[in-house]
Amino acid sequence: MTDTPLSVSASSGGYLVHARPGVLDEVGAIVGSLTVGGAVAVVSDLTVRDLYAERVEGSLAGANLRVASLSVDPGERSKSWETAGRVLEWMSEAGIGRDDAVVALGGGVVGDLAGFCAATYMRGLMVAQVPTTLLAQVDSAIGGKTAVDLAGGKNLAGAFWPPAVVVADPECLATLPDTEWRSGLAEVVKSAVLDSDEAVRMLEADAPALAERRSDAVARAVRMAAGHKARVVSDDEREGGSRESLNYGHTLGHAIERVAGYGTVSHGIAVAEGIRFAASLAERLIGSDREWTARQDALLTACGLPRSGCALDPGRVIEAMRADKKSRGGQVRLVLSSAPGMWEVRAVDDATLADAVDAWCRPQEDGRRS
Ligand SMILES: NC(=O)c1ccc[n+]([C@@H]2O[C@H](COP(=O)([O-])OP(=O)(O)OC[C@H]3O[C@@H](n4cnc5c(N)ncnc54)[C@H](O)[C@@H]3O)[C@@H](O)[C@H]2O)c1
Repeated sequence: MTDTPLSVSASSGGYLVHARPGVLDEVGAIVGSLTVGGAVAVVSDLTVRDLYAERVEGSLAGANLRVASLSVDPGERSKSWETAGRVLEWMSEAGIGRDDAVVALGGGVVGDLAGFCAATYMRGLMVAQVPTTLLAQVDSAIGGKTAVDLAGGKNLAGAFWPPAVVVADPECLATLPDTEWRSGLAEVVKSAVLDSDEAVRMLEADAPALAERRSDAVARAVRMAAGHKARVVSDDEREGGSRESLNYGHTLGHAIERVAGYGTVSHGIAVAEGIRFAASLAERLIGSDREWTARQDALLTACGLPRSGCALDPGRVIEAMRADKKSRGGQVRLVLSSAPGMWEVRAVDDATLADAVDAWCRPQEDGRRS
């Protein structure tokens, strides 16, 4: 496997994604080579701080950078306007200047929060994303979307603020709790489906090793999926076209999370259900093969993402799908895949949607879905 950094093109001039085992100890050298200021503000959460801050801060200090650090509570609740205000005030008190840098050390919550603060502090400061969850390494840290949540919904206040660099060490994933691991794995499967037959085959071969989090398989999966995201956002930085594909499995996935109640069904299981749903709808709407549906289902199961079997009210699921920010004029739009590496976006008419959601919500006798 190659260790060459992946590259992303962006209006900011582009950046590299260093995705390889052990690269966490090189954060200092990498950030030091990019910043002209002498200080870095490391933003993390309390869990990640205990696990990795010492190594990262040691590496930054070793590159002669003055380190100031702040950790927020773990979890989505920290992705708030209030926490962003606290981080910004702290940066000012810590004497962070316009030539200095922010290091976002953590999962997607820390990446979105610290990225948003970097975008606004002194009208924009360099940010290095150092993702420590699988979801963040293959998805949220790449692409420059930053945000905090408002009372009215997730990610309602945000900015496109591409990182100066992404440093993703797959070895950090060994300490991830199982639910967080699975959340990321659903994104990895999605990436392979959208990417190519080669990526799907690689994941099929690696699935048993991934279920045990074997380091070689984990590193391959991170590179494959991070590479896919890097290519997509290079092609479509502001989500005017191909970036929409990354929503594969998420329209139903988000609806499940919302209707079941956040935290009841994990993000990974919900997205996996969304992928299965989109796969079977693709047979009906774009004539994809039944084998392709079965292959996606088997891959998800082999990766430890079994069918959820949760019973939800079809009407509420449809309502939640219509409320998805990607739907237009109340009409649900779904990303559908006809074959590995092939996808298209389809508006789904009400009758077809009702029929498909109804079938999905009706558990079969063996606990499986139709
Ligand atoms: N910006 C984007 O493009 C984008 C894309 C997808 C998702 N997101 C956002 O990402 C967020 C979800 O991110 P997430 O799934 O990484 O969740 P998260 O950041 O909340 O991390 C999940 C949990 O894992 C812990 N953790 C992190 N790294 C760890 C490690 N190595 N070992 C042990 N524990 C660790 C954290 O403390 C936290 O409790 C959401 O807010 C979502 O909106 C953003």
